[in-house]
Amino acid sequence: MRRLLYGGDYNPEQWSEQVHAQDAELMRRARVTAVTVGVFAWSMLEPAPGRYEFDWLDRVLDRLAGDGIGAILATPTASPPPWFGLAHPETLPVNADGVRLSHGSRDTYCASAPAYREACRRMAGALAERYRGHPALVMWHVHNEYGTVCQCDISAAAFRRWLRIRYGDLEALNDAWTTAFWSQRYTDWEQIRTPRATQYLANPTQVLDFRRFTSDELLTAYVEQRDILRAETPNIVVTTNYVLGGWVPVDHDRWSREVDLVAIDHYPSDPGPGAEEQTAFAADLARGWARRSVERPHWLLMESAPNLIYAADRMHTKEPGRMARHSLAAVARGSRGALFFQWRAPRGGAELFHSALVPHAGPDSRVYRETVELGEHLDRIAEVADGVVDTAVAIVYDEQSAWALQAPGLPSTRLDHLDEAQRAHRALWRRGFVVDVIGALDDLSAYAMIVLPMHYLMSDAQAAALQSWVAAGGRLVTIYLSGIADECARVRIGGYPGALRDLLGVRVEEFHPLGPDDRVALSTGATADLWSETVHTTGAEAVARHVGGILDGRPAITRHAVGAGAAWYVSTRLEPAAYGDLLAEVAAAAGIEPAEAPPGVELVRRTAGERSWLFVLNHTASPHDVPAVGVDLLTGAAIDGCVRVPPGGAAVIREHRSSGSSC
Ligand code: GLA
Repeated sequence: MRRLLYGGDYNPEQWSEQVHAQDAELMRRARVTAVTVGVFAWSMLEPAPGRYEFDWLDRVLDRLAGDGIGAILATPTASPPPWFGLAHPETLPVNADGVRLSHGSRDTYCASAPAYREACRRMAGALAERYRGHPALVMWHVHNEYGTVCQCDISAAAFRRWLRIRYGDLEALNDAWTTAFWSQRYTDWEQIRTPRATQYLANPTQVLDFRRFTSDELLTAYVEQRDILRAETPNIVVTTNYVLGGWVPVDHDRWSREVDLVAIDHYPSDPGPGAEEQTAFAADLARGWARRSVERPHWLLMESAPNLIYAADRMHTKEPGRMARHSLAAVARGSRGALFFQWRAPRGGAELFHSALVPHAGPDSRVYRETVELGEHLDRIAEVADGVVDTAVAIVYDEQSAWALQAPGLPSTRLDHLDEAQRAHRALWRRGFVVDVIGALDDLSAYAMIVLPMHYLMSDAQAAALQSWVAAGGRLVTIYLSGIADECARVRIGGYPGALRDLLGVRVEEFHPLGPDDRVALSTGATADLWSETVHTTGAEAVARHVGGILDGRPAITRHAVGAGAAWYVSTRLEPAAYGDLLAEVAAAAGIEPAEAPPGVELVRRTAGERSWLFVLNHTASPHDVPAVGVDLLTGAAIDGCVRVPPGGAAVIREHRSSGSSC
């Protein structure tokens, strides 16, 4: 039986042989199955130009192999050593103010600098040659959290090359960037720079294209290393860990075609119950991206925090049981396991108080005891590894729209695509729906219902794909500010929502953005905030109207029957309960049933042919009963109709679905 991956980032280079021996014993007790090694070890692996020192890593990998623990071997290229930047100063990144940064932290590189790229290829080659065939090697982990932006002259030249390929000639670029506005017309390619600090608002399409370029440039750097590793070890999975967040200049959906296994790092920022919702969202997003990867539909939680969660002004403690529930939630939603940053808390360095499976307090600690318990749990549920999560509902999260909505000069500064996608997810999560969060609109056939939150940029091809999917029977819920602009972030003229006017059967004449304390009332009795619009129906029927204010009597939510399907348009931000009601109603129309569970109890099913496993996660402070028949793999108890899950606890039921269940 395939084991689930359990362990975390392991940095033996920070510790003595004596501590390594203790690590071995503690990993054995915790049933650790895999650790990530070498992520930030460049200065130890190549202490001087071209002088590789692998002996210490040989000993680490040999010991891991002896203990039956897999090595997820990293290439250390996210952190070039001080000597490297001094020898190749042109590889140090330059920020938007034109300041060249210095070594002393990590991620100090320019992905376009030839010397850096060459050093990365050499390092990947040396590691692959040394460790191909090593019994500990289970996976390659290229780099760490690609996301570094550089605005040096080398990057600018690479940006220009990328733009020439994208646009062909300068006229096309001038048109795409609307350079007739504010006298920005370019007459020579050499005049084009990266979007450095400007006197006033920057050109939004230039900024958007620079992000796209950065994503592609980093991807090329990844692919170079991947191909070197693949050539030496064709049967070993190659991946890199995605970092999530509005600042990240990586189009993960596009990247997912190039990774064998989608791997994400996830650190919820909400210390309250929102952390569970964020965890489910990230997992569903990873599974959505995994639709494109080699190992689809599985993915991997490569990093998470055992304990402290960073939020606002301080770190928050994860209450007892929460680490296990977050890990099980990831596994429930298709992860190949649960890995952490990090195995052992460091004595110093920039993240010295970051949580770890072996905390500063040592193994005599709550966190390590929970680590051991989680190891037992993951061991007991190993049989779920082949199971998949099936759902007919999807939310679309489009990173390029998220970037475009960060531009200045938009009608509101409070527009946030990620937040809007999470809102839709939360509304469905609270109603018991499991959804895929997908990044692309090219294969919608698996879904009966799709939510499109603020899909600001839309190509004609995407609009056409949605149109045919709805006509064939799909149920689409489109949220305001979708379909507004083309891929060059130019507004589609003739009334919003440009690309989707025909599909939605509406024409929006004007926006009325709302202030932080403004609310609008609807004919359904619900209230809404943030956004409102003057909507005209041109084929759709109004299902809710504004009551009062300048939009009194005008449509707020519409429904348009199209072929065998229907498309709803929601022109304002509904309060959470009303949003949940609407989505539940659309799901019912699409024939999709939610799981019935008490509020705060999460139910997710993995299936493999005739076999199925029901994950029950009780995020509340009270015990809850949930209908189920089978065996709870965590306790070994037979469940013959109803499982009682303790406060903050979990159950993973191997189901006998032929028998009836009730509580
Ligand atoms: C990321 C990085 C780790 C570490 C953690 C801290 O996930 O990959 O090296 O910095 O963040 O949360």
